Amino acid sequence: MKTYPIRKIHEHGPGVKSFYFDKDFEIRAGEFVNVWSPGVDEKPYSVSAVIDDMIEVSVKAYGPFSKDLMIKKIGDRLGLRGSFGHGFTLHDNALLIGGGIGIAPLRILAQELTAKGYRFVNLLGAAVAYEIIFASDFEKAGKTYFTTDDGSKGKKGLVTDDLTEIIENEKIEYIYAAGPEIMFVKVKEIIDPLNIPYEFCMERYMKCGIGICGQCCLDGSGIRLCVEGPVLKKEDIAQITELGMKHRDASGRRV
Ligand SMILES: Cc1cc2nc3c(=O)[nH]c(=O)nc-3n(C[C@H](O)[C@H](O)[C@H](O)COP(=O)(O)OP(=O)(O)OC[C@H]3O[C@@H](n4cnc5c(N)ncnc54)[C@H](O)[C@@H]3O)c2cc1C
Ligand code: FES
Repeated sequence: MKTYPIRKIHEHGPGVKSFYFDKDFEIRAGEFVNVWSPGVDEKPYSVSAVIDDMIEVSVKAYGPFSKDLMIKKIGDRLGLRGSFGHGFTLHDNALLIGGGIGIAPLRILAQELTAKGYRFVNLLGAAVAYEIIFASDFEKAGKTYFTTDDGSKGKKGLVTDDLTEIIENEKIEYIYAAGPEIMFVKVKEIIDPLNIPYEFCMERYMKCGIGICGQCCLDGSGIRLCVEGPVLKKEDIAQITELGMKHRDASGRRV
């Protein structure tokens, strides 16, 4: 485990921050790093961007680990292991659907699609406006639709409300989604009948991050999300019987 000083911190809003570290390993959109806070824990985080030879990790405060990250200062050192996992494949005429902090890995995907010269449209939703991180970056990169639960940005409602119309009107040929699992369930329900290929960037409680411990295995495919994922294709997602229903807690128990 190598430790890195935090070079820069950006606060998106209450309890949502980005941390920047020197980039000394290659990373592709959808891959993740394990972040170690000494004496606290180690947890996986998507890289949200590669900018000026720095990698950016964006975190929303939920529990003990992410809340500890919120009190870190520039110069504090955190361990980084990675990059791990399989990321996104790149396709033209795509729709990027992001929910809440799940928007993070879509930002680096947008960077890679832009570099390829591919067209893409964004559909981003969150509880409130400030949780739609990188809103202006997405708007600069492509046409962007917003939804919020309280109507503070874009349309009041969920990203799935106008999904079918957006796919038809924007002539979408490929879909990427990242966000809460309940969003995947609804998105899948809508897009499966449309026969459009897709990839979801999923999350599970992870320990080793390198395929040894079995903590992140998905029923009934046996896919280890840390190795074969976290980005899974439509064919792999079709084999998952626990989507939106169960996951393993820290002890490995199904909850
Ligand atoms: C591949 C991968 C990439 C990830 N990328 C990111 C990222 O870019 N940014 C980020 O903030 N987190 C990301 N996570 C989640 C992160 O690893 C931690 O699980 C998260 O920060 C919460 O950890 P904690 O110890 O603070 O809270 P926990 O004690 O683990 O959680 C506290 C409570 O919040 C709930 N919770 C935790 N995470 C979420 C969530 N995302 N949505 C809704 N409820 C949640 C838990 O179920 C629990 O009830 C990623 C996870 C994986 C597997
Ligand atoms: S976290 Fe250990 S196998 Fe995936």
